[in-house]
Amino acid sequence: MNTHYTPREPTRTTPPLHGETSHAREELADWLRDAHAMEMQAEAMLKGQAARLENYPQLKARIEQHITETQRQARDVEQCLKSMGEDTSALKDSGGKAMAMMQAMGGMIMGDEVIKGALVGYSFEHMEIASYTVLTAAAEAAGEQEIASVCERILGEERAMAEWLSAHTPEVVRKYLARAESESAKSKR
Ligand SMILES: [Fe+2]
Repeated sequence: MNTHYTPREPTRTTPPLHGETSHAREELADWLRDAHAMEMQAEAMLKGQAARLENYPQLKARIEQHITETQRQARDVEQCLKSMGEDTSALKDSGGKAMAMMQAMGGMIMGDEVIKGALVGYSFEHMEIASYTVLTAAAEAAGEQEIASVCERILGEERAMAEWLSAHTPEVVRKYLARAESESAKSKR
């Protein structure tokens, strides 16, 4: 995913907890960068969704809560990279590009955007769950217990969001269909 990654010498001075950890550390840093880009995408996508959900106040409120969580997750992932002595100066750029792309895509969605948004949002949360499951295991293998704890906490937030969406999506679909029905009745009058 990240084409700009160049392996760096580990800067940690404390001895690793396990044997062959330098390769695990390089992979961990690379995957943390990917996770950071993913969170920037998530933020742009969620902001685009929230802006169009005036008829779905409950969904909008939950998405806004997750925007706050997502912003903190991006900062925490960046902090994990810094704690490993990794250069984080390139992170902002990739995020900016992802954001511009997602916003442009968001602007093109019409009509059943609430349902399309629900599909994308639900899928995205599961990609995040998979990513932080990988990162937690990788951090443990690299002897980075603090990073593993951060990733585990973020994993819990992504799971909570996915569970909320799972529980509330049927109700959003019913509301959307009812609104679409009444709109079409109005236009036939
Ligand atoms: Fe996230």
